[in-house]
Order: sequence, then structure tokens, then C-alpha cells
Amino acid sequence: MAHSISVSIWAFVFILNIGVSKCYFSVPLKIYTGRYNVSSAVDVTPLRRVASDGSGLSLASDPSGIVNFLDMVNNLEGDSGRGYYIEMSIGTPGQKLNILVDTGSSNFAVAAAPHPYITHYFNTALSSTYRSPGRTVAVKYTQGNWEGELGIDRVSIPQGPNGTFIINIAVILSSEGFFLPGVNWQGILGLAYPMLARPDSSVEPFFNSMVRQFGIPDIFSLQMCGAGLSASNTADPAGGSLIMGGIEPTLYRGSIWYTPIIEEWYYQVEVLRLEVGDQNLDLDCREYNMDKAIVDSGTTLLRLPFKVFNAVVEAITRSSLEFSSGFWDGTKLACWMKGETPWRFFPKLSIYLRATNSSQSFRITILPQLYIQQIKDVDGSLDCYRFGVSSSANGLVIGATVMEGFYVVFDRAQKRLGFALSNCAVSGGVALSEIAGSFSAADVAANCSGGTLKEPLLWVISYTLMAICAVILIILLLLLVLPCRRRDHSGEITDESSLVRHRIK
Ligand SMILES: *[C@@H]1O[C@H](CO)[C@@H](O)[C@H](O)[C@H]1NC(C)=O
Ligand SMILES: *[C@@H]1O[C@H](CO)[C@@H](O)[C@H](O)[C@H]1NC(C)=O
Repeated sequence: MAHSISVSIWAFVFILNIGVSKCYFSVPLKIYTGRYNVSSAVDVTPLRRVASDGSGLSLASDPSGIVNFLDMVNNLEGDSGRGYYIEMSIGTPGQKLNILVDTGSSNFAVAAAPHPYITHYFNTALSSTYRSPGRTVAVKYTQGNWEGELGIDRVSIPQGPNGTFIINIAVILSSEGFFLPGVNWQGILGLAYPMLARPDSSVEPFFNSMVRQFGIPDIFSLQMCGAGLSASNTADPAGGSLIMGGIEPTLYRGSIWYTPIIEEWYYQVEVLRLEVGDQNLDLDCREYNMDKAIVDSGTTLLRLPFKVFNAVVEAITRSSLEFSSGFWDGTKLACWMKGETPWRFFPKLSIYLRATNSSQSFRITILPQLYIQQIKDVDGSLDCYRFGVSSSANGLVIGATVMEGFYVVFDRAQKRLGFALSNCAVSGGVALSEIAGSFSAADVAANCSGGTLKEPLLWVISYTLMAICAVILIILLLLLVLPCRRRDHSGEITDESSLVRHRIK
């Protein structure tokens, strides 16, 4: 492929590098740190009435129903880089706030004190219905954290199910590195399971409360429309839809493929195989799920365990360009002359998920348009792109970069996640994502997520350590005077999969 490589190198005109231009491939190199405008404006769509039939799938047409899915279409704004948010009205009288949609956490938390990076906040003193038993809550992320108190109040969602309901709310009184410049949201809506709620799982998450009080089906679905833009700007607005209570048929094409939720904490799924172009990475399937594989709207990138990430980069470079390593590790942008698009130099990426029939799988595929992401407004004469895949120390994360290709159905009622082709993942008439199935999973281990890949020696060490721990524990128990006083410990999410860690700053 000498010809295509020379074309590639010709096309790969510049890489941006901090300050000074350097010469790597006899072309100028430069880096930009990247700073972007906030998006605004969403599309409107025609109305059609859809109501709940209570079966988990809601496509009937009962005009008295409290859920009209078409009223929820385009209720999100945002982009993969800074997250997608929905407008809510909190307290009595209602105070309007934008709330980030995060399927990788389980607290509903809003700013309740001023902060330099947010324009407004929830003023609890102005809400006649706000109650707080005075319990404190703190969530710590790998980068950033917030602290506040737990309370309850009324909430309604203008473009959500009709009505007002009562939810647990964590009011953020102080934070560090959580609100960042340029974000247009003031709170976070954690849509995962109670197990991730802080300080403990007794704090009923928002969606659980909504399902219980409204009687809507225990299912929501998410379409994020910023395909290929790490950050949208006013000229190029992106939106999306969070459909609460069911599935809106106008948001997808073809059929929905389901994969089991293998454990209800994060939305954990089982990845069986990865392909770069037509090339199977051919790793032990447990590598893909090490130590878990989750679907998280609050994570910007597709994140892969180190070993998998290295194999992907190697496979891409084999079939495509030589880039400086800074491009792959996300510290450099690759830039081409305006009008030149780089996507033809990159392969498709496919993820095979276990089907609900466990001896089968299906695959979701993203085109390079989704993972080679244009960064807007960096330089007047160049179009710059970043690599939308990164390495991870704590599991595979199907983040916004991938989710933007699909309409994703969080069917909690049936403990499964559905993927269908999103009708907004299209650019210039070309679909940016593909789904295919079913494939036999006969050649794959029966369980790719259960086992850890420890060496026998490590097992011995583990058991030895466990025995030592047990002995120490028994000694401690003997020393302790019962009953122990329960300390109000702050929940800690040391997990990098969380949103706050991986968005653009
Ligand atoms: C809420 O109720 C109003 C009036 O009945 C109706 O027009 C609207 O479609 C409903 N919204 C939703 C999301 O169901
Ligand atoms: C599951 O898939 C296998 C292999 O394709 C097939 O033989 C079997 O009939 C399927 N089971 C169900 C319940 O559909």
C-alpha cells in the first residue's frame, strides 16, 4: 500500500505542537490544547402521541398517558466532550437548572452554592418544599470532587413525563475540579443502579424514584447526536434525546439488538471480540472485560484496557498512517488542510457483544468519523482532529464516542441493553455506525467477564494475603468493643470511568 501511504503522508499536512513548530515527517508540527465554545439550540421535531402500555416497551397510543415520547425528543443539549444535559425544574417554585445525563453514577446532585464556572445554582432557601435531614454526602472522583448535604425536594422535567415527583437530591456546597469552564450544566443525573449511590445504596436514585412514583416502565433510552464532534459550537449545535419510560421508534433505524446487563451497578456488559477493520485483535476475551466493560454516557471516549488499547493502536498503524505517539495518547491533535478529511485513512472499529441468546453475539461498528473527532475552531486554516480512544486502568468503557452512533436502550425491566442505529449518526448521507448479527459465540469462552486472568502464582499470593487479612480481621474484631459506631464515611469513586475524569477541559 505504498501509494496510499504516500498519499496519506501528503494529506497529513500538519500536527499541532505546543508553541514551536517541529519537523517530524518533514511537515510542520504543532499542538493545541484546545478550548471550545459552548453549544446552544436544539432542533424541534413534529409531534406524535405515544403512551405507556406498561409492558416495558411503550409504543401504544393512550392519550391519557403521562408519557408522550415525542415531547421528549431533543430534550438534551451538549456534546461528547462536555456531556449531554437536560433541563429540570427543581423545588417550589421551580428553579430551572441544566443537569448532565450520566449513566456511570447514581446520585442526583446539583450546585447549591455559587461557583465561578457556573451561571446559577439551586437556592434551597427559596424552595418551600426542600427538606434535609442534615446528612452529609461527598463524592470524590479521580480528578475533582464535591461535598454537600442530602435532601429531598420536588422535581419536574419540562420535556419529560408530565408531573412533579419527589427525589433525593444531593446539594453541592463545595467542589473542586467538578464544574469546569465552558460547561453549561449545574448538576448531574446519575442513572445507574442503587449500588453506586453515595453515601450508600439506601439513597434511592432518581430514575428508580421516577418509575415508582409515575408508574412508567423501568426503561429509558438515550440518543446523543454530536456524532464526531468532541465539542460543538453555536454554528454546529448538537442535541439528543433522553426518553424516559420506553423507546421512541422515530429515533432509530432497523432492529434493536440486546445484550444482557451482567451485573446491576454500572451498566455492565460482556464484550466478546474486537475488530480493527476486518482484523480480529484475537486477544483472550477476558482482556476486553478486565476488570469490567460498561456503557457510560458520562465518559467522553471509548476507553480500552491497556493491552487492548495497544493492540488497537498497533492494528490501526499497521493499516494506516504513522503518527507521532502524541496523537494516540491524546496529547496531540492531527491537522489537515481545511476541506481535507482524514477518515479514509482509518479503519472501522467493531465491538462484539454477547447476545441475549448467550451462544450468539452481535457487533456494533463505528466509522472513523466517530472516533477521529474534529476539534472546532482551533486554527483558521486547518481542520484538527483528536483520537477518540484512550487507555484505561479500570476496564473498558463504551463512552459517548461510541454511543453517539447508536440509540441505546437501557431496558432495566428485562436487565438488558439495546443498541440500534441512531438516525442522527449520519453525515453527508453516510451512516457513521453499523450493526450486524447474529454471529456464533461458540468459539468464545462461556464467560468473558467472570474470571480474572491471574497466574497460578498470583492466586497463591492472593489466597495467602486473604488468609492474613482474615486473621487480622479476627484480631481487630476481638479488640473492638461492640457495637461499633458507624462512621459517616464519604463515598469515593476512585473509578476513572466517571465523567469528571474524561471530558475536555
Ligand atoms: C403533558 O401534558 C400535556 C397536556 O395534557 C400534553 O400536551 C403533553 O404532550 C404531555 N407531555 C408529555 C411528555 O407527555
Ligand atoms: C441460540 O443460538 C443457537 C446457536 O445459533 C441456536 O442453536 C439456538 O436455537 C438459539 N436458542 C434460542 C432459544 O433461540
